[in-house]
Amino acid sequence: KTIGVIFGSRSCEREVAIISAVQLMRHIDTEKYNTVPVYIDETGNWYTGEKLMDINTYKPFRGDQKGIVKVFPDLSSASGALLTLNRGTGLFSREKIEIAARIDVYIVVMHGLNGEDGTLQGLLELANVPYTSTGVAGSALGMDKIMMKQFFRGAGLPVLPGIWFSRSAFRSDRDSVAKQVEKEIGYPVFVKPANLGSSIGVSRADDRESLYDSLELAFEYDRRVLVEKGLDKPVELNCSVKGYDDDVQASPIEMPLNSDGFLDFGDKYLASGGSKGMASLHRVLPAPIEDSLRDEIQEMSRTIFRLLDCKGVVRIDYMFDRESEKTYITEINTIPGSLAFYLWENAGIPYSSLINDMIEYAER
Ligand code: DAL
Ligand code: MG
Repeated sequence: KTIGVIFGSRSCEREVAIISAVQLMRHIDTEKYNTVPVYIDETGNWYTGEKLMDINTYKPFRGDQKGIVKVFPDLSSASGALLTLNRGTGLFSREKIEIAARIDVYIVVMHGLNGEDGTLQGLLELANVPYTSTGVAGSALGMDKIMMKQFFRGAGLPVLPGIWFSRSAFRSDRDSVAKQVEKEIGYPVFVKPANLGSSIGVSRADDRESLYDSLELAFEYDRRVLVEKGLDKPVELNCSVKGYDDDVQASPIEMPLNSDGFLDFGDKYLASGGSKGMASLHRVLPAPIEDSLRDEIQEMSRTIFRLLDCKGVVRIDYMFDRESEKTYITEINTIPGSLAFYLWENAGIPYSSLINDMIEYAER
């Protein structure tokens, strides 16, 4: 069988996705599967070629390197230049046809917009090619923090209080935005762009001045922003879930370690060292928590997985408030960094078996 590994994209989490994808491709069982990498660069061009399996290809990426071919997304075969989109006319022109392999299943390794958010999933649905991630609706809901919060709240699941604002509302009257935050939530708050991951554009505000700064920052990234109540030194706890339909399994729980109850992009990925990325992030695994809390989180994670009709491997992030002893859902990542393989390894499932499982769920 031929497995397409599709990754990259115009998302600002592209670099994280490259790390996740290269790591994943090294663990595909070569006895069972051929791997065809498909990389989408920051301008939206698609490429294939074995060189894309090497992390050095991205330092920096150039589409004209030897061993890389530009392809138009003919999703059922990612082999050499198939169709090229003529950007001038908006028409497809047929340049050269060289079919080397049909893709049986796509493993989607995208983080963030234009890939984790249902867009690519929709394209793959249309093309009728099996793929390893959650479907269109669940992916879309899991990407937009504003919609996700409403959804969880509506399902009776615990989320922190939050309000959202549009850029135009903020630009036209910052004072009333701040007053609403102060009245309905109170400091500290976390300010988050609606549609980004990996903590990009997220910051904490402790007073009105820093709230304005945080909102300015978040609105650089998105037109809609969520302002959420901040907890004092919460314990972060993450749980992965894998499966499809009624066959759902929750992983051991990790406690990512950080100094101030908040991980930013730098802590999470850049400082954590090269191609190991997420895997070398400091964490305690399994998290040193009571069995009852573990059970509660695993149960909630399976519920969320089923509510969003997830498929493959997801990671759900929580905050535990030591004071009130309450657990809150932060978010779901329908395609988590490193595909959360380290959580499954801890459960005795090696990465290559996890990949086999993902492929099997995709084909069900
Ligand atoms: N969005 C990143 C990749 C994560 O949370 O895992
Ligand atoms: Mg995320």
